[in-house]
Amino acid sequence: MVFIKALTIVAACLSLADATPLNKKRQLAFDYNDDKVRGVNLGGWFVLEPWITPSIFDQWANGGGVVDEYTYTQALGPTEAFNRLNQHWATWITQDDFNEIASYGLNHVRIPIGYWAVNPQPGDPYVQGQLTYLDQAIGWARSAGLKVMIDLHGAPGSQNGFDNSGRYGAIDWQSGDNVAQTLTAIQDLANRYASQTDVVTAIELLNEPGNWALDMSQVKQFYYNGWGNVRSDNAYTAVVIHDAFLDIESYWNGFMNSASGVNDVILDTHIYQIFSDGEVAMKPCEHVQTACAAGPNLAGTDKWTIVGEWTGAQTDCAKWLNGLGKGARYDGTLSGSTGYYGDCQSKYEGTVDGMLDVDKVNLAYYVEAQLDAYEQHSGWIFWAWKTESAPEWHFQNLTRAGLIPQPITSRKYANQCQTSSCLIPGN
Ligand SMILES: *[C@@H]1O[C@H](CO)[C@@H](O)[C@H](O)[C@H]1NC(C)=O
Repeated sequence: MVFIKALTIVAACLSLADATPLNKKRQLAFDYNDDKVRGVNLGGWFVLEPWITPSIFDQWANGGGVVDEYTYTQALGPTEAFNRLNQHWATWITQDDFNEIASYGLNHVRIPIGYWAVNPQPGDPYVQGQLTYLDQAIGWARSAGLKVMIDLHGAPGSQNGFDNSGRYGAIDWQSGDNVAQTLTAIQDLANRYASQTDVVTAIELLNEPGNWALDMSQVKQFYYNGWGNVRSDNAYTAVVIHDAFLDIESYWNGFMNSASGVNDVILDTHIYQIFSDGEVAMKPCEHVQTACAAGPNLAGTDKWTIVGEWTGAQTDCAKWLNGLGKGARYDGTLSGSTGYYGDCQSKYEGTVDGMLDVDKVNLAYYVEAQLDAYEQHSGWIFWAWKTESAPEWHFQNLTRAGLIPQPITSRKYANQCQTSSCLIPGN
């Protein structure tokens, strides 16, 4: 007996040593070092955003207090909310979308999901059922040859107070046991997809924490703990941390880089030039120059870095972009805004085909400049694949209309970031 036991132990040690030789490099199913992330966000699918799918919120267009998924599910109650959302989940994105995304030369989809799909909290009005569709989506991604970045877009208490966190208003994420419950949600997601790291190559711990209302030392501790949670389930998923709107070089260099004892961390930064008066005031060429200036900033980080959200829009005109029922800075209709920079016209609501020619031209130059800049490090993920009626945010239709280049690596307006002069005609 003793002899047999000893043999078993020797065998176990040998097979362990065999499986994980010390010099073997970790293998992620996507090479974030050498290949560029090119992708789209499947926004408005498992986390509602009124501006992406205004039809879902139409009955409260003129009031009623429904402004986000929290108040939506609260107002409808669990049965009706589930029935409507289940219909939405089953139809907003389908296998055809995955195949079309892949056909455009993209390699990633980023899929926002709320904690409530995984780890609902007592008293929450949210309804569940999203994970069944997420499971199915991972199969579609595999068939299409796409990688999936799962993105925890909403945390208990809300990490940013945006409607897209599930709950508009207060930032209460660092109260009570909200952070601990967020870590549980991360653990559950990592565990659920641990056997599918051939497709789920990255998990983002938390979208857009609002640094202005958070203790950043606790955010950083959460990032370390979340990394540990993912790693405890598998070694082959990259862990994505959002920059919390702080500079990707001066603030984040030195944090969770390879010298910090962690591996396979991706920093995610979001680049929008539309959420202040100063930005919507900019001319098309200034938008291009600002995009180009992001290139060296991205190149200067000490870890993999993606632009995980960006857009073709140069204004905040899209209906309800600033919140259900709210206007825009661009035309001065947002309450509290003071300026007027132009008429929103077809940028408010409509189709890509219905955009003004001048807007189409400006957008096409702007998109290509961003592609050039954002590929200076690990790549990019456009927001969003589709919207109901916000044309400048609709990757699918923009591509079909020839305003996003195909192949995705080709350029109609090359070298915009190589010159200080403006190449856009009439500018
Ligand atoms: C996108 O294209 C589809 C199909 O042509 C069309 O029905 C839809 O209205 C378009 N949406 C936008 C925002 O361009």
